[in-house]
Amino acid sequence: MYKTDFPFFSHRPDILYLDSAATTQKPREVIERVAQYYVQECAPVGRSLYEAGVAATSAIATIRQLAWHFFDAPEESEVIFTSGATESLNLLAHGIAHTLQEGDEIILSESEHHANIVPWQEMVKTCGARILFIRNLENGQIDLEQLGESLSERTRVVSLSLVSNVFGTLLPVGEIQNLLGKQGRRPWFFLDASQAAAHLPLSLRTLGCDALVLSAHKMYGPSGVGLLWGRTPLLEQLAPYRTGGGMISKVSLPETSYAALPERLEAGSPNTEGILGFGAALSYLERIGMEAVRTHTEEVSTVLRAALEKVPGVSILGDPHPSSGIISISHEKVHPHDLAQFLADKHICVRAGHQCAQPLHAARNLPGSLRVSVGLYNSTEDAARLEEALREALVPFGYA
Ligand code: ALA
Repeated sequence: MYKTDFPFFSHRPDILYLDSAATTQKPREVIERVAQYYVQECAPVGRSLYEAGVAATSAIATIRQLAWHFFDAPEESEVIFTSGATESLNLLAHGIAHTLQEGDEIILSESEHHANIVPWQEMVKTCGARILFIRNLENGQIDLEQLGESLSERTRVVSLSLVSNVFGTLLPVGEIQNLLGKQGRRPWFFLDASQAAAHLPLSLRTLGCDALVLSAHKMYGPSGVGLLWGRTPLLEQLAPYRTGGGMISKVSLPETSYAALPERLEAGSPNTEGILGFGAALSYLERIGMEAVRTHTEEVSTVLRAALEKVPGVSILGDPHPSSGIISISHEKVHPHDLAQFLADKHICVRAGHQCAQPLHAARNLPGSLRVSVGLYNSTEDAARLEEALREALVPFGYA
């Protein structure tokens, strides 16, 4: 129903794209918005008095407002533009390091993607804190009992993915909030919404986290842009991860004072065209309505899952929630790369391998997995083509 919004498919009608969790295709209005900036509006942001410069500055301010409303954030100045979820997590980890001490603890899960593991590993080297990893149950959910036992007075940060990029499970945020609420000293609670934001309506006022990160390119926007939302008291504590122009109040040779939020955490010239394209993606999603987006994702995912379950030798990893648009599989005999290569030759795009989640695959003793992920351009009819291609791929391995 939405496929005609995406020019990619009029150029490549042969392609069945099932890799939206890695990156989405872009709707026409995102492409046109980026082109319009280059063709008609190109000017610096935040430093020019001439008309085009003032217009570019105010266009960025408008997108910040749009994001503020779209994610129902408490304060507009809490929306920080970054290059994406990876930069946002680095900003959080390195920015908060100076507030942690030897023996403090950070809690992550074994199923986090690398962007929510590696920055913390680097950060603890600088402050002497340590990381505790919570295991995942057979259904892919994090083990809440182990989480409850692991929380203590030393826990300073809990950082988890709202939707697992491999299991497609939804984090039970309410139950985690209850566990955190029992702590005398409540730790910061960070959510990685990279895989959630394209499919689910998100309200930062009700989610109850202290920070949330995401990438625009996984929600129909351009690459190289995303955001960090954080509560003001958290953001004010963050040491700026990047420093330079645009984030200062006054610079003299001996010292510098920093600007207020959000500029304080946005050093350098912004990714103007990226932010404008991100705004167009948010407007596009707003026009469809996130409830309609969720319904579409659930309908397509449900049919895809049923089709995958019929393929001989296939196991679904965990119990993916249909709203996540993610289903990962393994095969009892065939390596995921071999299956993905066969599908690629049939112009079916999926992701195979460790999916930026090596610890998760190591914990399950798997060489990798094959992930099918849904976007607005998919339909329930895609399931039959995928199932047929997988069955054909398995014939040489003795499956009828
Ligand atoms: N971008 C990574 C993925 O495809 C994490 O899931």
